Amino acid sequence: MLNNLLGLKETSADDITAILDDAEKFKKEVLQKDIKKSDALKGRSIITLFFENSTRTRVSFELASKYLGAAAANISAGGSSITKGESLIDTIKTLEAMAADVIIIRHSASGAPHLVAKHTESKIVNAGDGMNEHPTQALLDMMTIREKKGGIKGLKVAIVGDVKHSRVARSNIYGLSKLGAEVAVAGPSTLMPKGIEGLGVKAYYDVEKAIEGADVVMGLRIQLERQKKGLFPSVREYHKCFGVNKQRLRLAKPDAILMHPGPVNRGVELSADIVDGEQSVINEQVTNGVCVRMAALNMLAAGKRA
Ligand code: CP
Repeated sequence: MLNNLLGLKETSADDITAILDDAEKFKKEVLQKDIKKSDALKGRSIITLFFENSTRTRVSFELASKYLGAAAANISAGGSSITKGESLIDTIKTLEAMAADVIIIRHSASGAPHLVAKHTESKIVNAGDGMNEHPTQALLDMMTIREKKGGIKGLKVAIVGDVKHSRVARSNIYGLSKLGAEVAVAGPSTLMPKGIEGLGVKAYYDVEKAIEGADVVMGLRIQLERQKKGLFPSVREYHKCFGVNKQRLRLAKPDAILMHPGPVNRGVELSADIVDGEQSVINEQVTNGVCVRMAALNMLAAGKRA
């Protein structure tokens, strides 16, 4: 049973599978119903604390909490007493004092959720920490792959783009590898972390070789906010050399699916036509985000109850 959800590096294959199974159940029993309501987390309190912008993660955690009957509150760093000098740990202790059962945190510093988890009895969920991990994003990606492909074991997944700055890539590498997928990563050498093969993936600097024969092609956002200038000449040049387009997608298996965590920079990581094309499952990823977040919150809150 999970105590916190800090990353997929420290989450077992059994716990990952349990969350995916529960997410499927919540999809059928809650999200796809006309009245989206369950009492699974009735009487629980869930707070999101975001130090970086978000649309998908923040809203889906809030909806997931409310669909399961919990009391939900949102705080953004700019609107909190952190602007008056309160430390992150004191902020977490303040939320704990209000009987927060689960605190969901997004922070630009890698390791921030791990640090606060040591200082609170509230359960902590990592909603993205710097360049480290984004575990619920990888869980929703795995749920979408399982739905579309019937399983994960033995699939070839090509992750293309800014691997170096991507917490989504790291969480997917841990999670997909634990469930038996073969993961390939591709991108410019300046955006490829040193020693990435140590995580059990194949690294390519030729995007076409990485995509060849893939069951899943996952584009990554170019994270201009996290990188120094000069890692590639221009976004136009990047798209020409490393962007996924129709021709490159044809190198994957004919029934391959196209994924992206969002937000997409159309015409940079992916050409605009394939974002809306038949192979794209980007909108299904967003839908499944609500389901895996219901499952993760339920697992953590149920753990607290026991
Ligand atoms: N994929 C993702 O984390 O999106 P948001 O930044 O909109 O939450």
